[in-house]
Amino acid sequence: MSSAESKILKLRKELEDHNYRYYVLDDPVVSDAEWDTLFSELQALEEASPNLVTPDSPTQRVGAEPLPAFGSITHRIPMLSLQNGMNEAELRAFDERMQKHLETNSVEYAAEPKLDGVAVELVYEKGQFVSGSTRGNGEVGEDITQNLKTIRGVPLKLRGDAEDCPSLLEVRGEVFIAKNDFEELNASQESSGGQSFANPRNAAAGSLRQLNSAITALRPLSIYCYQPGVTEGASFETQSDFLEAIRKWGLPVNPESAVVRGSAEMLTYHTGMGKKRERLPYEIDGTVFKVNSLNQQDVLGIRSRTPRWAIAGKFEAQQATTVVESIAASLGRTGAVTPVANLKAVVVGGVTVTHATLHNQDEIDRKDIRIGDTVLIQRAGDVIPKVISVIKDKRKKNAKKYRLPDTCPECSHPVHRPEGEAVARCQNLSCPAQVKRRIQHFVSKNAMDIEGMGEKLVDQLVETGLVSTIDTLYDLTQEQLSELERMADKSADNIISAIEASKQTEFHRFVYALGIRNVGEHAAKLFEDEFSGSMQSFMSADFETLEAMDEIGPIVADTVVTFWADKQNRSVVASCFDHGVSLKVPDNKSSGALDGKRFVFTGTLETMTRAEAKRKVENLGGRVSGSVSKNTDFVVAGPGAGNKRKKAETLGITVLTEKEFEDMIA
Ligand code: IVH
Repeated sequence: MSSAESKILKLRKELEDHNYRYYVLDDPVVSDAEWDTLFSELQALEEASPNLVTPDSPTQRVGAEPLPAFGSITHRIPMLSLQNGMNEAELRAFDERMQKHLETNSVEYAAEPKLDGVAVELVYEKGQFVSGSTRGNGEVGEDITQNLKTIRGVPLKLRGDAEDCPSLLEVRGEVFIAKNDFEELNASQESSGGQSFANPRNAAAGSLRQLNSAITALRPLSIYCYQPGVTEGASFETQSDFLEAIRKWGLPVNPESAVVRGSAEMLTYHTGMGKKRERLPYEIDGTVFKVNSLNQQDVLGIRSRTPRWAIAGKFEAQQATTVVESIAASLGRTGAVTPVANLKAVVVGGVTVTHATLHNQDEIDRKDIRIGDTVLIQRAGDVIPKVISVIKDKRKKNAKKYRLPDTCPECSHPVHRPEGEAVARCQNLSCPAQVKRRIQHFVSKNAMDIEGMGEKLVDQLVETGLVSTIDTLYDLTQEQLSELERMADKSADNIISAIEASKQTEFHRFVYALGIRNVGEHAAKLFEDEFSGSMQSFMSADFETLEAMDEIGPIVADTVVTFWADKQNRSVVASCFDHGVSLKVPDNKSSGALDGKRFVFTGTLETMTRAEAKRKVENLGGRVSGSVSKNTDFVVAGPGAGNKRKKAETLGITVLTEKEFEDMIA
């Protein structure tokens, strides 16, 4: 074995072990950053020896070509659903039925939380992950193998020696997004101009249905496995044995799973979960009870779509009526101005509720919610309670309509609601309620890329008042930093150097860093091209000019114009330049040999990495994009190229081999 090869094997093993500790044991021993370092090391080694890449390498979790459509997979055993137990009486009745059928007076159950996500099936052959699918109609699902591979909790191969692994293992489980990951995802969707998701379930479902697995890879998906499909070469006596076995093989199993006996213990588990629900890091909508003995399950059998041996215990609807005492505007982290109802305190599902979100003005108008109204409210899991409807019979004569103010509740700057959008936002760069988030975004990797400036440090800087707007970052001194808690002199030095180094940047990075709503990296690059890297021209561009640009629509144009209409925003930006921020005029943009040419790479490149190829094109004034359109000039296709190549051919776009591409740039 070459030394590269043994190094690669060792790194893979280490990464797998860390994944197992993190996703299965919930006991990580390295930080995310350390994990990333190991991963990059492996990536570099594999890039140097592509012949050593195997499909189960952790690097292979991303990078498949986008699909034209999902294929279908027929489940060997149909994926069933569950009968519902809507209340305690129904759970008790279920236990009685089980006793009667099984002719016993005490039945044991595997009790599990009912996750609110998307059901999937994973198939392992001889320990290797070979395919995965959605539930679909229960008989046939969609082939989402590539997307499932991007989920780090899904092992690409089972742990343990080959002899210990079943020759075939099908497991079913739930893909979901944890509550805090969901918040982060939505915040980053918003700040990069993407659409935000209504709830974690929708976000998980949408992410799994991406034809481009590279997008799925960016979504924080998790999985818990909970049910066997066909298994060969391993057998289990009970559901709880099954869960224990798959956990040893490296598949994540919900740690809240338990074994209970009889209806009294079922109800204790169920109410206990109901109470714990808020504190769980993911959303659940009930509990599941399965007759634990697989033999007994066989005896009970299935009805048309649901097994007789299992039931979902639903949490009772958490609704109540109360009175809207007043309505106030509140400012979210993304600058959204949201109306919030102050309610007469009421207990809903064991929790005292005093506020409910009214979302936006349209929602208030649609439901005709007035101050003084009696309303029906609902609390769903961890989500902020909302007003479902007004009880009109109880409306008092003096009930008062409400209109959101047109200034920010925190900084009094005018708020802006783009045509066609439901939400009004404060776009003031200096708005105190948004400062942490704005600065975190400003310093982030794809923005100003200030190394060593993590979220915690930004929080500290804002909380101590050292930083209040982006330009004040440039006033920081080594002394100020080293006085902060947990900050060594050396680190303070490094941060000051990193801030200094970051000042030499590019137009598109700086514009993206400003966090103008709807202006993501791509739009920032379009502006860089349009205004040839001149900030002056960008700042004074009018609506018509912006809207006339390719790929820029009226909403973005409008947002940009209002952003620059704010005097304070202009002065913060000017101050950045006064502090030495300087924007490189994009390289060779007007003199490169590939000036303005658009390239798409597809398939495997053999003599260079994608990143190198991209750099080469950009150095010559060209641009690289991810998808083929009529604006593409060249498609460089290596082995394994599929749809992009086909699309190029139908559009009559020149397709180059890697060799031809090299000749061209030479
Ligand atoms: S078992 C035959 N276990 O609930 C058993 N399902 O209504 C079928 N679900 O499609 C599934 N948590 O998406 C099972 N611990 C759990 C579950 C669970 C959530 C979902 C799953 C399924 C639906 C059935």
